[in-house]
Amino acid sequence: RVAPPHDALPALKLLRTVIRNPIEVWPQAVYEEPLYRRRLLSRDTVFVMDPDLVRTVLVDEAAKFTKSEAMLRSLEPALGEGLLTADGERWRWQRRAAAPIFRHERILGFVGEMIAAAERRRDAWLSIAGGTVDVAHEMMHTTFDIIVETMLSGRAGIDAGRVERGITDYLESTSWTVALALLRAPRWVPYPGRGRAERARDYLREEVLRIVAARRHSGERRSDLIGLLLEARDPETDRAMSDQDLADNLLTFITAGHETTALALTWTFYLLDLHPEIADRVVAEVATVTAGGPLRPEHVEQLAYTRQVLQEAMRLYPPAPIVVRAAQEDLVLAGERIPAGTSVYVPVYAIHRHVRLWDEPDRFDPERFVPSVVKARHRYAYLPFGAGPRICIGMSFALLEAAAILAVLLPVVRLSRASGRDPDLKLRITLRPGTGLPMRVARRQGR
Ligand code: HEM
Repeated sequence: RVAPPHDALPALKLLRTVIRNPIEVWPQAVYEEPLYRRRLLSRDTVFVMDPDLVRTVLVDEAAKFTKSEAMLRSLEPALGEGLLTADGERWRWQRRAAAPIFRHERILGFVGEMIAAAERRRDAWLSIAGGTVDVAHEMMHTTFDIIVETMLSGRAGIDAGRVERGITDYLESTSWTVALALLRAPRWVPYPGRGRAERARDYLREEVLRIVAARRHSGERRSDLIGLLLEARDPETDRAMSDQDLADNLLTFITAGHETTALALTWTFYLLDLHPEIADRVVAEVATVTAGGPLRPEHVEQLAYTRQVLQEAMRLYPPAPIVVRAAQEDLVLAGERIPAGTSVYVPVYAIHRHVRLWDEPDRFDPERFVPSVVKARHRYAYLPFGAGPRICIGMSFALLEAAAILAVLLPVVRLSRASGRDPDLKLRITLRPGTGLPMRVARRQGR
């Protein structure tokens, strides 16, 4: 079906912005109504900005929505039908089986490995003090180290550089795959970088299948993530994961788990350079909690202010700046009829900077996350990890990991932007600094 001419112009504009920088997709009008509606490429699309409506979509009526087709078409070829991409019963049993592994108390057992990886990064930085590093790249490496260490008890022969390039290549291609899915183009349509993205995807999948097979074959029992997943059972049906299920989920944890946390840290370092007084407070907190000694796993949970800093950084720069669903049936939202098939966007980035929800929304202020202030706010005005049944399963993992990394690095180094330029925002499913974040590394005074 050919879209009517009045539909074509916004559609082309959308396509251009999707490819360039879709953070600009939501127009100013989005901020004015609780539900902003528009026909794009002859599809119904709504943006949900009101926290009560966010709750309806993601929590209360979550069963009436599935993951969006454009997102699935972009991610499924790489991640198969793991937790992030599956829907319906397939998602439900995997979530039931994996949930105990990601419980906060269980994740506490991994904090020692998180600290050790951060200390390796700290030592590498101290050895080049005075030099410049791309913090985005360095954080990807650090969180990659942590995910493979906690998931596989070591590298298991994985080439970290190749994985990182592979994930970047693959994510780059998603701007095209999302746009082509919105245009309903057939899957065979070529696009720039397709070959590279497919090679990256194949490499990652082969590596992970090799590791799963090796672990099954060895019969070795370990309490790393792969070991726990091998033993995981759906408490309702006692179903265990097949090799494909395991590969899908390990790839999901590698991809969803390390890139997002690295970006949360990258944006935090950027903001702390703009606000050295806040960095000083983090350093003071770490000194108090550790009594001047080395950081130990049990300290990390006590770093309340450090955590507030991370939460506020994820408000201004949510690593996952948009959550998308598709309505599975006709329904009514804010008094408007929403036909089945409508794409429902929850523009997390825009909600986090909405003037009706936040005082001076562009100001970096960790005091917004003091518990009493959080209590007084609408629960669904802040969504860095999504909400409802599909809330990020790795939330505790990510928060402990990010706090551990900051608490190891910040007391010994000071990072300042090398170019003095603000990074561009680039959306490739996640929110990245356009050309990385080069920063100069200096020893913090007294170290
Ligand atoms: C889901 C954000 C870290 C694994 C999600 C969702 C968001 C998110 C917004 C919901 C997507 C939706 O509803 O469509 C983040 C951020 C992180 C982070 C901002 C770091 C700061 C992690 C880590 C892991 C992980 C460390 C694993 C080790 C997952 C998985 C899902 C998910 C498996 C799908 C859950 C489901 O649908 O049941 N994440 N994430 N994430 N995340 Fe995270």
